[in-house]
Amino acid sequence: QRGHTRMIDLPVVSDPRGDLTFVEGGNHVPFDIRRVYYLYNVPVDSERGGHAHRELEQVVFALSGSFRIKIDDGFSKSEFVLRNPKRGLYINRLIWREMDNFSQGAVCMVLASHRYDEADYYRDYDEFLAASRA
Ligand code: TYD
Repeated sequence: QRGHTRMIDLPVVSDPRGDLTFVEGGNHVPFDIRRVYYLYNVPVDSERGGHAHRELEQVVFALSGSFRIKIDDGFSKSEFVLRNPKRGLYINRLIWREMDNFSQGAVCMVLASHRYDEADYYRDYDEFLAASRA
């Protein structure tokens, strides 16, 4: 069972000029960061995700606004609301995820362990389920 989905808290340096958060691959996240991507201009009724990955690990942040992530490891389901730019959600390989309830102006940033590779995706839920239980 891949119950490794968890929140990761990044450091914050606060002073009267504002807050600063940083992230180091292999230190604050459990992999070397090979890719960063972000979602923005997301319509509030949009649903994203709907896939799992063979190898990819990710940490997802709401840099601005908020959204919900629904997590399914093939055995149990859980959900998280991200709204704090210093708190990310670590998602291991072989985890089905769906994202919705985006607030107006939400920005979702994702740190990823590998470069983009469509062959790494499970986009079919039943195929994911079989793999997750193998
Ligand atoms: P997808 O991962 O399905 O988006 P989400 O999970 O946020 O709903 O990707 C959407 C499209 O963007 C798909 O055609 C693949 C492409 N894409 C890239 O080309 N590079 C990337 O790094 C990512 C994440 C997606």
